[in-house]
Amino acid sequence: MTATARLTLDPAFRIAPVEPRLFGSFVEHMGRCVYTGVFEPGHPAADADGFRTDVLELTRELGVTLVRYPGGNFVSNYRWEDGVGPVEERPARLDLAWRSLEGNAFGLNEFMAWAAKAGVEPMMALNLGTRGVAEALELVEYANYPGGTRLSDLRRAHGVDKPHDVRLWCLGNELDGPWQMGHKTAREYGRLAAETARALKRFDQDLSLVACGSSNSGMPTFGSWEAEVLEAAYEMVDYISLHAYYDPSDGDADSFLASGADMDHMIRSIAATADHVGAKLRSRRKIKLSFDEWNVWYQSRFRGESSLEWAAHPRLIEDDYDVTDAVVVGSLLITLLRNADRVGVACQAQLANVIAPIRTEPGGPAWRQSIFHPFALTARHARGEVLRVEPECAAIATARYGEVPAIWATATREEATGEIALFVVNRDRRGPCALDVTLPAGLVPAEHLELADEDPAARNSAADPDRVAPRPGTGLRLDGRHASLTLPPASWTIVRFAPQE
Ligand code: AHR
Repeated sequence: MTATARLTLDPAFRIAPVEPRLFGSFVEHMGRCVYTGVFEPGHPAADADGFRTDVLELTRELGVTLVRYPGGNFVSNYRWEDGVGPVEERPARLDLAWRSLEGNAFGLNEFMAWAAKAGVEPMMALNLGTRGVAEALELVEYANYPGGTRLSDLRRAHGVDKPHDVRLWCLGNELDGPWQMGHKTAREYGRLAAETARALKRFDQDLSLVACGSSNSGMPTFGSWEAEVLEAAYEMVDYISLHAYYDPSDGDADSFLASGADMDHMIRSIAATADHVGAKLRSRRKIKLSFDEWNVWYQSRFRGESSLEWAAHPRLIEDDYDVTDAVVVGSLLITLLRNADRVGVACQAQLANVIAPIRTEPGGPAWRQSIFHPFALTARHARGEVLRVEPECAAIATARYGEVPAIWATATREEATGEIALFVVNRDRRGPCALDVTLPAGLVPAEHLELADEDPAARNSAADPDRVAPRPGTGLRLDGRHASLTLPPASWTIVRFAPQE
């Protein structure tokens, strides 16, 4: 018997506006994300700056709004000064995070020029691993001060007259992790984050600052790290970061398909931790969450940094994504939207080649991986306000997360057009689900697309770049204020409803 579910779309039940910064991505100096990813002078599609225009076009199509740079683990041993000024004078360095050779042909000013062409907001990470307050201030002066000081004039001498005016800064990266260059205890990091934030806000009190939360929810200090860091830095920072990667490798597909439930739990846990600290400090401020690394990552295939041979932009973690991975990415985006009242920034990690929606070959083509599609459609159609959607449905038993709802959904409504976009995942791989949607009066279906496949392991490749793509859904029926449709097993679906003309 086909499973059934129902949900109601009611414009009165609003969560929060859709924050454009939820559709962020991440460009790290890691593997081939920068070199032969976004930047490849000499490539037939490269522009005068060496940026691959095929990748720029795909980045725009993906709908990315913001890009975090330059790391990741890379940033914790990075000297930003190495990446500015005449390219021929820039030093080659060892990148200890990924045991890679960094030639520094791409740096801050190249990234800002690329971000302008891509139409994305930059989110810069500071090195608080091997460096500290002074270097952070110097970078911000170089990047953001108009002119007339040593570092702002240096930027101008480097050909960038106007300040970059970067608004969003990460106070380091994953400093709770023992793998991180300059790894710290929560007490050490909390104090450094607070002092760096205090100094940066003295420079410009409107900068938005992100303190590092835990590297993942499995860290032994998950929760207590955030509490201790925020106790030191609460009044000075605006966001606390979260990172989560979901690994399909162990073959437990039910748990993998329920990854959104884990992300949801993580968001609620860290929001509660931040609010607890706020209550203790009797603060009126609310700390928002920056989910600045999230994705599917076949992490257990990665043998670790120490297994790597020194090389310049080697092929690192270039995961090929299948249909199920795309469904999970769609469900993680649903989770972020469902928590739009608390999550203010989110970045899928990463943009090109390294666990990425966009793949390239050096000198060759660029193509969309399966995970590109739910991101692009969500970024394009999630507009206006997020509506509270609570499906009535069966539960699925998972080994990792216990019972989770089989149907996971969110919706957004754009006031100006009255259009509602419904995003919904059927986590059940064993069968379809008949979904009944109660709509506001006057709306009719305008578009119905789904990501599903008889072969859930199907993938795109350079030779077959469109094997996995959203297809028009079939069988959607409207009866008064009820729309009914069938969600295929393990599928992601978008339905747009628009006012009847
Ligand atoms: O995105 C890959 C790596 O994952 C990042 O460098 C690091 O921050 C995280 O552990």
